[in-house]
Amino acid sequence: ARIRDLEGRRVLVTAGGTREPLDPVRYIGNRSSGKQGVAIASAARDRGAHVTLIAAHVEVGLPEGVDVVRVETAAELLAATTVAAPENDLTVMAAAVSDYRPVSVSDSKIKKTATGERLTLELVQNPDILATISAGPRDGRLVVGFAAETADTREELLALGRAKIARKGCDFLVVNGVGWSTGFATESNTVLVLDAAGAIVVEASGSKTSVADDILGVFAAALSGAP
Ligand code: C5P
Repeated sequence: ARIRDLEGRRVLVTAGGTREPLDPVRYIGNRSSGKQGVAIASAARDRGAHVTLIAAHVEVGLPEGVDVVRVETAAELLAATTVAAPENDLTVMAAAVSDYRPVSVSDSKIKKTATGERLTLELVQNPDILATISAGPRDGRLVVGFAAETADTREELLALGRAKIARKGCDFLVVNGVGWSTGFATESNTVLVLDAAGAIVVEASGSKTSVADDILGVFAAALSGAP
């Protein structure tokens, strides 16, 4: 029998990579496939939750039986998340958000110069959605962040994760190593979940579906006040 430990709960998941337009045909993006976030949304639904999925660019099919909101940019993701997070018991921010966006978006296609000169793009920082949501009034609602890091060792990965959860102020941080061939756009994943104190609460490895189930067990237990 399936575990229904999220019955009666509302769960919000953000997934996929944001895209920041440069002009009508180009954007700055990232290699997130959205697979892990979509797997979390599906697993939360299967555990009995009412699920809202805010999907940026994803390369997988969207799950049945969840409310889907589509977004493109970090600004759109911020707006949608700000509205939805207060209505959810658990918010899992698995989206890969662009840290920067172009200062201005060109109305027409940017042309190549005839002289072979370099092109400089000026970027401004996007707001940190996770830090913003974490800092708001919470009243028992849980916020979970993700951290995709290029670390050479497990120690380095842990140190980066601990610094990040302190900075973001969320309740749990799911840390995974990424590189040219690991993490993004792959079928399986290996993650560490840190609590707000930086302690490892669970380590999960396997398909993105099994990782989703393992980490949701931790969040469901925390919601129900289990130690
Ligand atoms: O700082 P970094 O991008 O590694 O943090 C990753 C976490 O923060 C993810 O949960 C991501 O969804 C979130 N994030 C965000 N807004 C940003 C950048 C990242 O919410 N501008």
